[in-house]
Amino acid sequence: MTPAFLSFEGIDGSGKSTQARRLAESLRATGHTVTLTREPGGSPGAEEIRALVLQGDTNRWSAETELLLFTAARRDHLEKTICPALARGEIVITDRFADSTRIYQGMRGNLPSTVNSLHDLMIGTEPDLTFLVDLDPKLGLARARARNDTEQRFENMGLSFQEKMRTGFLTLADLNPRFRVIDGSRDPDSIAAQLLALTRAQLS
Ligand code: ADP
Ligand code: TYD
Repeated sequence: MTPAFLSFEGIDGSGKSTQARRLAESLRATGHTVTLTREPGGSPGAEEIRALVLQGDTNRWSAETELLLFTAARRDHLEKTICPALARGEIVITDRFADSTRIYQGMRGNLPSTVNSLHDLMIGTEPDLTFLVDLDPKLGLARARARNDTEQRFENMGLSFQEKMRTGFLTLADLNPRFRVIDGSRDPDSIAAQLLALTRAQLS
């Protein structure tokens, strides 16, 4: 089997988790072994860090401290979950990866070169293919807030913050050939069909 590392990126509520799950199910139905995982989290240690970064006051951490926490979580996720699954020849699908740090912490704190240096030092891995699920932030924020969970720290940063994040993701996608930009405003079935076709093209 050929291992493959796929990531989903996009603003909050854009439909990443829904589509990552559907893609994993479709690939499993055609005989692939898939590890479906997420960030922040994806390993026991990183899931503990998740609660620290996603709950509480918006000003709880500076962008710099957040960068260190997300990178620590990613390093554990990589060591304990992603690398072992790729070594077994599996397809790994992660709901967010390092591009989220580039955009959320990099832009929030105006720290792009620090984010990239720390990534090179501690992570050093990029996905083979990245799906950017793009959506109007008004819609994304409404969907994310309707979940009504306790993990709303970034949603609470507001609409203009989400608009800035969306622009950042689109710019990053323009610069990197591993990105595919997906229109997240369509119905879930047609998005899932497009994602499966793009993934099959990558695997062939
Ligand atoms: P994300 O992981 O990007 O935050 P989710 O997949 O959790 O997004 O979706 C956020 C909410 O929007 C969920 O309630 C989900 O059921 C709904 N949703 C996801 N995709 C669509 C879609 N294409 N059209 C309408 N609603 C959607
Ligand atoms: P997630 O659970 O994927 O949220 P959502 O389902 O709303 O998209 O991620 C939680 C939040 O963490 C999200 O607002 C983005 C933020 N985040 C960062 O700021 N930096 C990172 O490196 C990652 C992985 C996530």
